[in-house]
Amino acid sequence: MARSGFQLSGDAARIYEEQKVPTMFAPLAVATLDQVTVLADDVVLDIACGTGIVARTVRQRAGAKPRIVGTDLNGDMIAIAQSLTDDAARTCEWQTADATDLPFEADTFSIAFCQQGIQFFPDKQAALTEVHRVLKPAGRICFTVWNGVADIVVPMTEALAQHVSADAARKATAPFALEANQLLPMLAEAGFMECSISDISINRTIPATVHGVRGEIEGLPIAKIIFEKSEAAMDHVVQDTFTGLAPFRQGDFFVVPQKTHLIEAVKGS
Ligand SMILES: C[S@@+](CC[C@H](N)C(=O)[O-])C[C@H]1O[C@@H](n2cnc3c(N)ncnc32)[C@H](O)[C@@H]1O
Repeated sequence: MARSGFQLSGDAARIYEEQKVPTMFAPLAVATLDQVTVLADDVVLDIACGTGIVARTVRQRAGAKPRIVGTDLNGDMIAIAQSLTDDAARTCEWQTADATDLPFEADTFSIAFCQQGIQFFPDKQAALTEVHRVLKPAGRICFTVWNGVADIVVPMTEALAQHVSADAARKATAPFALEANQLLPMLAEAGFMECSISDISINRTIPATVHGVRGEIEGLPIAKIIFEKSEAAMDHVVQDTFTGLAPFRQGDFFVVPQKTHLIEAVKGS
């Protein structure tokens, strides 16, 4: 199985679902689906689905008919998706799978989403070629990657450099390093056509409390590294990030903009 740069386990997957999905990944799924229409006769794949927020949002938007499958490398994330009891979650299929080795026949899906996942794949070209294989002719790929380092990550990165290590700070910004343009030749190489890049901006709304900021940080893979340093290091990183977010305070919340690229392409028919 391919190694990944984004791995959460056990309690971290639950914290991800409870903290990061409502503040960031759910608004991003909604913003993406405001731009990408899914029809009742689509067959939908959500790759690197995490706890399945894109798949679930597609269900809410497109109704009961489409088959919707979510896959992720991390079985703990899939276990959270499987444990959710709302109608949207119960009516999607969930499967643990590496993006470079999808357990589906060729020409199965009409649309494949991948929200903030591809930057973690060690072999992006292999993943795009695999997505191309499982898409039907004229099937669409729609994926998002961050557009620049998020404002919320800036104070956290400074705190990591000061209280944990330069390596931890580097790891925190790694998810933002992939440029959308880098993916265009890879999409072409995989056989995709009509590639386009558009912009999406969401607001991350985080309770303006130390507890709220702690939840954001504990839902990141970097939390493990911080805790390995010490509990006190986590306290410092949380406190400094909380202080650094002051310019974004609106009443009881920090409202922090975060920009994303939406990349779309079509499999030739
Ligand atoms: C930032 S999370 C995004 C999850 C989800 N798309 C969302 O919007 O909440 C990145 C996800 O990519 C998954 N991932 C990393 N490498 C992977 C791979 N090679 N194959 C499949 N999933 C992978 C991780 O397990 C993680 O769930």
